[in-house]
Amino acid sequence: MNASRAKVDRVAQTTRGVRSVLSIPLVYETFQRIVGSPRVRRELVDTYVRPRAGLRVLDIGCGPGNLLSYLPGVAYTGVDLSPAYIDSARRQFGDRGRFFVGRVGDLDADELGEFDVVIAKSLLHHIDEDEALHLFDVASGVLAEGGRLVTLDAAYTPDMSRAARFVVSRDRGQSILTPEKYEALASRVFAEVRVAVHHDLLRIPYTHVFLSCGRPGDS
Ligand SMILES: C[S@@+](CC[C@H](N)C(=O)[O-])C[C@H]1O[C@@H](n2cnc3c(N)ncnc32)[C@H](O)[C@@H]1O
Repeated sequence: MNASRAKVDRVAQTTRGVRSVLSIPLVYETFQRIVGSPRVRRELVDTYVRPRAGLRVLDIGCGPGNLLSYLPGVAYTGVDLSPAYIDSARRQFGDRGRFFVGRVGDLDADELGEFDVVIAKSLLHHIDEDEALHLFDVASGVLAEGGRLVTLDAAYTPDMSRAARFVVSRDRGQSILTPEKYEALASRVFAEVRVAVHHDLLRIPYTHVFLSCGRPGDS
């Protein structure tokens, strides 16, 4: 890990205005269901995570932990900046996973253990470039041989609809990039970065980008 990137302490998400209610776990999850997040989670899990019993999963920026419902049998660790989200995750999922409060910039790969899959779902666009690079460093440091980091974020593309551009611009995350810029950041740490763009995963107009990051030849 690059020590100079550690202890990053800036916030790139807005919690002001009407979006502040999304900090309440039940409101957040209700909103996610209304806009169609279950389909996004299904795509992430089926295409990229491919869960099996005992798969070691680290979910960074896990929110209230709802992805765990889609990951039967895995050994799950979730970390998030928000104590309210982590409290909710512990109440809902109990001992099905380990949950702790933590900021990406403070994570230390040596203290986290080893994982087969690291997930950062809807996180990169909430953090700035230094913290994103720290996230890639940490993920690279904890992944077992053949392991992958999977990220999913809002993105700006030239071919997105005007409606999608408007909705994406209202996101709480303040670091929304183009797929090429996300890829360039990840490529500073990972030798192989696969990119997939989707315009139709939610019920509302929205553009998503998946990154699947690993070492060359890893599945
Ligand atoms: C859009 S939510 C996504 C939550 C969850 N991954 C999901 O997809 O439902 C972004 C999450 O990132 C967390 N977050 C934002 N900045 C963070 C940081 N610097 N370190 C750790 N978590 C952070 C927020 O608290 C929030 O739970």
